[in-house]
Amino acid sequence: MFQPVLLANVELENSHTLAVYERTGGYGALRKALKEMSAVEVTEAVKSSNLRGRGGAGFPTGLKWTFLPKDHPGPIYMCINADESEPGTFNNRILMEEDPHQVIEGIILGCYATRATTAYVYLRYEYPKSLERMQAAIDEAYAAGYLGKNILGSNFSLDIYMHRGAAAYICGEETGLIESLEGKRAWPRIKPPFPAVEGVFRKPTVVNNIETMACVTQIIRRGADWFKSIGVPADPKNPRDPGSYGPKLYCISGHVNKPGCYEAPLGITLRQLLNDYAGGVWKNRKAKAAIPGGISMGLFTEAEFDTPLDFNGPGKVGCLGLGTAAVVVLDETVSIVDFLHNSCRFFAHESCGQCTPCREGTAWSLSMLNRIKAGKGRLKDLDLLLEIGDTIGIIPGTTICGLADGAAWPIKNAIRKFRGEFEDYIKRTNPHGWMEERAVEAVAGLAH
Ligand SMILES: Cc1cc2nc3c(=O)[nH]c(=O)nc-3n(C[C@H](O)[C@H](O)[C@H](O)COP(=O)(O)O)c2cc1C
Ligand code: SF4
Repeated sequence: MFQPVLLANVELENSHTLAVYERTGGYGALRKALKEMSAVEVTEAVKSSNLRGRGGAGFPTGLKWTFLPKDHPGPIYMCINADESEPGTFNNRILMEEDPHQVIEGIILGCYATRATTAYVYLRYEYPKSLERMQAAIDEAYAAGYLGKNILGSNFSLDIYMHRGAAAYICGEETGLIESLEGKRAWPRIKPPFPAVEGVFRKPTVVNNIETMACVTQIIRRGADWFKSIGVPADPKNPRDPGSYGPKLYCISGHVNKPGCYEAPLGITLRQLLNDYAGGVWKNRKAKAAIPGGISMGLFTEAEFDTPLDFNGPGKVGCLGLGTAAVVVLDETVSIVDFLHNSCRFFAHESCGQCTPCREGTAWSLSMLNRIKAGKGRLKDLDLLLEIGDTIGIIPGTTICGLADGAAWPIKNAIRKFRGEFEDYIKRTNPHGWMEERAVEAVAGLAH
């Protein structure tokens, strides 16, 4: 079994305190960086580790940092994305509650590398314990000279602020986050310009996830080569694949014996995660399906469980990507119609409404699922749903942000992979083919 690194301390008593963190080598990476490394060298180390962002999109972290303008007089901001609203995902919470200093050390290193002098941690509203632990750790770090003016006697100064979020999924999209941080409704911005050029308060800004920052701490502490010794190497046949390196925090929940957050090398299969870490499917039942990386990534059938959970694996079986690597297992008793109904309800509720294809597409897909569930489904609704799924999102090029892609993938995967189950359901609940031939006159009354 892989020896945890990111979660190495979480079982220790008072793991969240500075005393325990320092006892286990904490802030050694920061001391080393401030003494021996220039900002460019820290960026280079992160770049050569090939660390890819852990927030969902998997963008190379070091490369993102180099997009900041070189000669900008300042200020530069760093936003740490702790909104963690993707269903099934709770690894950021574990890090913030049990090892907040590992995250804070990574933030300080990231700010040193990018010349940011202010960092905001945008925290999911529903995480009061994370707020308490992170704030206490920030206070300890100020008192010990790791934050504030002239950190550890260097020329580098940094302030970190906790900012409690607005309790909506869209606040996790990086430009929605920035708008919300500025005190506005979290409406994602049209890009370009990207945040690195024009972010918070229209200044250059880096947005990175909590787990990404914990990885930065470990890369500076242990070296880029150590990081690259773990995970899946780049595919030589694919010049756009930077590989899937490093340890990863996998969340697993749903119908399993031991739900939890487990650390493993990137690239373990869903079946290994389920059987070796989560103790298999509960109640001696069989698995039917699983979401691989948050609900927005789509759905694996049980036959696809041997797919590696790295940045490339889920795409090979028609999913959107690795996402947050949060797996939710559905056992054989679960109705995929119910699964899709829940998924559509979530995205219709969370769409911010700016883009017509997303606002209308998510609302109509929910209306159709409501109608199917009410025994008035038509077989042709399945093709209509697929049409919505295939036409909303950044990938087909019709929306501002990726929420719509996240809404589309569960629809596409559920219907394409489980079409027989949908057809049986519709034939059983609407045996006389209600409205099969004519247009449905009204669905509005069934929408809620
Ligand atoms: C609808 C939506 C919700 C998102 N929610 C989160 C989130 O809760 N946390 C997160 O880190 N990234 C989230 N992201 C991804 C961010 O936009 C961004 O890519 C990420 O914070 C960058 O950090 P990273 O490069 O370290 O992964 C979301 C994206 C979308 C489209
Ligand atoms: S895709 Fe959806 S959530 Fe994203 S900006 Fe458009 S309407 Fe809002």
